[in-house]
Amino acid sequence: MADRRDFMGMALGAFTGLGALGALYAAKRTWDPLPSVKAAGFTTLDVSKAPEGVLITEMWRGKPIFVLKQTKEMVEKAKKKEISNAKGHKEIERLIKIGDSYFMITVGLCTHLGCIPGYRPETQDFLCACHGGMYDSTADVTKAPPPRGLDIPPYKIDGNKLVLGEEGPEYKKLVETGLTQRV
Ligand code: FES
Repeated sequence: MADRRDFMGMALGAFTGLGALGALYAAKRTWDPLPSVKAAGFTTLDVSKAPEGVLITEMWRGKPIFVLKQTKEMVEKAKKKEISNAKGHKEIERLIKIGDSYFMITVGLCTHLGCIPGYRPETQDFLCACHGGMYDSTADVTKAPPPRGLDIPPYKIDGNKLVLGEEGPEYKKLVETGLTQRV
């Protein structure tokens, strides 16, 4: 009987250990930081190692920054779908192209009242738990009350790197065409 209890205890311990490892792995998949350098309000992110379809959250000037390297499927979807704003932009224009890859890089604060939306890998979208606002994988708004997609922080492309805080020509164009507001 004692042997059986020992065995049950060991089996339970192993199971709990595996569960904890699984939770750690899930957290790591979501939070692995990218190589970055922070200096005087600028954050330089090396996005060359970013995994596809996994949300990474960085910090810039005290704000969460979402980085989501797009999967092929996400890019195809974005190429097809028009943004429902008056200018009829394509969603692909919200994405930042670095090398051959597309990235969604936005401030991770809901444009309604500033909550942090949660990424849902299974549906590849964002849900803001505060009032039910939703965004797609390009961070364009798909369900009110948010008045617009997540804002894109000022950035400049430098090879495989992205300098957050510096306004490069691509970012200025996004502001001029109304695809983001300055943050
Ligand atoms: S703060 Fe996100 S929906 Fe209201």
